Amino acid sequence: MTDERPYSPGLEGVIAAETALGYVDGEKGRLLYRGYRIGDLVEHGTYPAVANLLWTGDWEPEHRMATGEIPDGVLTTLQALPKTAKPMDALRTAVSAWGATQALTYPPTPEQARALTAFSPSALAAFARLRAGQEPVASDPSLDLVPGFLYQLTGTKPDAGTARALDAYFVVGAEHGLNASTFTARVIVSTRSDLASSVAGAIGALKGPLHGGAPSEVVEQLHQVGSVERAEQWVKETLDKGERLMGFGHRVYRAYDPRAAALRKVAQSMDKKPEWLDLAIKVEDVALRVLAERHPERALKTNVEYYAAAVLQGVGLTPDLFPATFALARHAGWTAHVIEQSADNRLIRPDARYTGPQERDLPA
Ligand code: COA
Repeated sequence: MTDERPYSPGLEGVIAAETALGYVDGEKGRLLYRGYRIGDLVEHGTYPAVANLLWTGDWEPEHRMATGEIPDGVLTTLQALPKTAKPMDALRTAVSAWGATQALTYPPTPEQARALTAFSPSALAAFARLRAGQEPVASDPSLDLVPGFLYQLTGTKPDAGTARALDAYFVVGAEHGLNASTFTARVIVSTRSDLASSVAGAIGALKGPLHGGAPSEVVEQLHQVGSVERAEQWVKETLDKGERLMGFGHRVYRAYDPRAAALRKVAQSMDKKPEWLDLAIKVEDVALRVLAERHPERALKTNVEYYAAAVLQGVGLTPDLFPATFALARHAGWTAHVIEQSADNRLIRPDARYTGPQERDLPA
């Protein structure tokens, strides 16, 4: 029962797939989608164009995609959920229910990916309204996916700046290599299961606090800081207590997270910035300086969550919708990985090292 093969807890350092989709370069702080830099995609693309790039490999900056319809059975399912349900639970349920209405065939296709990615924003917006006692708003096919989502959420068409800012967040969140939820999606489809099951599982994986991030905690910490004058003292006291600064540090990035850099620019150019954005920029400088003093051995830089918080709050989303909105953005990456996995599939079935008792007889 001994097995000398190496074991890597958490599969850290193990290459478990090949992908042509996203390249995360932690040392140099680069993120590429099919070779294109994230900063360039944010500046020159939109979420539908980036999703299409991930699905098909073609860069068509004019590519458009509206939000989708909610099948009747799915709406009934959303209406049956308690108003207190977490938006992530509602979204996972909606994706599962949607799959039951679609008769999805294997292998998954870009058309299936497009349909699910278009459906989910409508479902999340509908749940957000239902829990507030409001009627869902039907999809407007004249609007692109991200402004369409905001319209279905609020009942009002967003201004161009607001739509552009959230679209940038969606582009930045679309894909990030073989993270836990993407791996989950690939494992599920490797059994020749369907696209909706893969994405429902991925949402389950993203829901965990170690993965789904905590931009709402960034907002909370900035409230605690209160003012620029208090920043240095607050940062030091927080670290002295052994607590972490939200929005700093990353498992892969040792350089400044390129997604944070892109979203910082977007947040600064927004008309409706959260009132704490100036404070956030000043606190960031202090935090980076103090983290460098305290951890000279480990590069702890700003991560995507720090400025995601500013953008999401600036466009008017409530913090409890942040994780599910991240899940909407990641649909493009999940579904692209599912298509890629099934195009050259090998059932994902690793081994475990057995650590239980030796073979023995049942007690008499
Ligand atoms: N604030 C203060 N210290 C930090 C830190 C942070 N945000 N992130 C890491 N460190 C320090 C810790 O002292 C840690 O040492 P310890 O284990 O003795 O406490 C050391 O750096 C190594 O951290 P480790 O947990 O091994 O890094 P990781 O690669 O596993 O963790 C994160 C990455 C993102 C989980 C971690 O940096 C973190 O908790 N950040 C804050 C939460 C956050 O912003 N999450 C969103 C991520 S996109």
